[in-house]
Amino acid sequence: DIDSRVRELVSQMTLAEKVGQMTQAERRHATPEDVKKYHLGSILNGGGSFPGENTREDWVQMIRDYQDAATSTRLGIPIIYGTDAVHGHSNVVGATIFPHNIGLGATRNPELAQKIADVTAREVAATGVSWTFAPTLCVTRDERWGRSYECFGESPELVAEFAGPLVYGFQGGPMEGETLADNKIVATAKHWVGDGGTTYGTGDENYEIDRGDTQLSDEELRELHIAPYKPALDAGVGTVMISYSSVNGTKMHEHKELITGVLKEELGFDGFTISDWEALKEIPAETNRERVVRSINAGVDMVMEPEKWQQFITDLTAAVEAGEISMARIDDAVSRILKVKLEAGLFENPLPPLANGPDADELLGHKDHRELGRQAVRESQVVLKNTDRLLPLAKGKKVFVAGSHADDIGLQSGGWTIEWQGKAGDITEGTTILEGIKEVAGGPVTYSADGAGAEGHDVAIVVVGEDPYAEGMGDYREAPCELCKPLTLSDEQLAVLEKVEASGVPTAVVLVSGRPLLIADQLPQWEALVAAWLPGTEGAGVADVLFGDYAPSGKLPVTWPKNLKQIPINVGDEEYDPLFPYGFGLTYAEDGRAEEGPAGEGQQ
Ligand code: IFM
Repeated sequence: DIDSRVRELVSQMTLAEKVGQMTQAERRHATPEDVKKYHLGSILNGGGSFPGENTREDWVQMIRDYQDAATSTRLGIPIIYGTDAVHGHSNVVGATIFPHNIGLGATRNPELAQKIADVTAREVAATGVSWTFAPTLCVTRDERWGRSYECFGESPELVAEFAGPLVYGFQGGPMEGETLADNKIVATAKHWVGDGGTTYGTGDENYEIDRGDTQLSDEELRELHIAPYKPALDAGVGTVMISYSSVNGTKMHEHKELITGVLKEELGFDGFTISDWEALKEIPAETNRERVVRSINAGVDMVMEPEKWQQFITDLTAAVEAGEISMARIDDAVSRILKVKLEAGLFENPLPPLANGPDADELLGHKDHRELGRQAVRESQVVLKNTDRLLPLAKGKKVFVAGSHADDIGLQSGGWTIEWQGKAGDITEGTTILEGIKEVAGGPVTYSADGAGAEGHDVAIVVVGEDPYAEGMGDYREAPCELCKPLTLSDEQLAVLEKVEASGVPTAVVLVSGRPLLIADQLPQWEALVAAWLPGTEGAGVADVLFGDYAPSGKLPVTWPKNLKQIPINVGDEEYDPLFPYGFGLTYAEDGRAEEGPAGEGQQ
């Protein structure tokens, strides 16, 4: 069985082989020869780092080269290759990109999310990759945090509902001594723990709250941030990524009580923990070796050390030889890593069998996957305002479309898409919101990005929102900095809106954003408002809701604040007077017309 195979392997391993297993390097900084020489346990690709032309074949060849090197060593231990497939296989051109988690939270449909994870696992496995750094189980408590869109919502109950289905979708069920099916990949619950709870105003200059401090009592931490991990652990999640942030002043990467005490001992997590990217730097210590000692002793099993992995190997080796880290701790870490590799079936199949299967070429962006994406987009739309039942828009009328986000798949996909921060324009396959509108409108559609020429149309749709961002980049600060993103629409976007409003044509505004934006001042001028979140490549789902082919069912996964002063604002707060409450969302009546009352749990 797997446990005895693990014991047998560990008993034969040298310290160098063990330390190598605990090391993860980035593909640009480690060759197959390095894997062989240093016994590296894992390779990842950082955002924007792709093999060759970024085709499926390039990926498979790259991973095959690494695996050939790894399996030709004395003990033949394969690497495990990881990538951020966080909303689809979002690093590969041609893959289906699904709504980011905030949109999935709005669907209130964990079964749908499970199907998305299942389809994502197939697209990932088809490229030779066995491990995704997803799902993110953050509970977003403050939308000034730039990674809010990676969370299913502000309520731990909502996040918990999605956690198990996502893990099942990726992994196919508890691994517990069994190997994964051919079309499955290892999942990562991240970022342990409290990443969405960081207190604004802490953290360093560039990562104001991204890597800040979560200040909560033990009870609050458990209720708000630890609880959503339980269903992921019950579902047998193979790995857990540690958060850059701190809890009550202690950096998570050295937080023994929360990593070893709570996660491993109390909650029984028996997979392995992986650090975040160069995250040991977060630990306040004089030397790298001291950071290594503190994090490994706290319970970090594998370290994501993309570039300076040789330094990590040197320091970890020296620390073990000096008795600063016990051999028992090293054996525990290595045993966990080997167990997950065995459960993933990597010893038998270093590449997921799906990568070699006859259907692999068909899988990326398969039409069934895109249809699932479109359905997810439909279900994630939240109709927030609908004066005089403007929505659903009648078909066959003269439609005017404007705005920066109407015709750009990169913008509608958001961060972690092809590029780390998400990059507009690089994705060519899929459907923009404008293309979707043209498909379903049943009449003439005119588009002007800057809003000129709306006069004479029956209705206008203005699509505006946020530009993509990922780590650090989204943080809002009073004194805007290079990396910050405001929570307001840009002056250019407001000018487009004003131009269209001046035409007197009834206007539906579609907001493409990873979090609520501050729109209270503009809202009275808009007849209708739809929160589209970050829908991904299947923009037609937005049009399906606008034109009534699908009646809106989405509900706010977060509270929508009136102004900056109200933030943080979350359901259950004592003074709760938001623009739109948690759970709010309008729908259309059975006759296809818009209902005036809220469909959601909240009241407007
Ligand atoms: O998985 C990510 C993590 O969420 C943020 N830092 C980088 C990791 C690897 O890309």
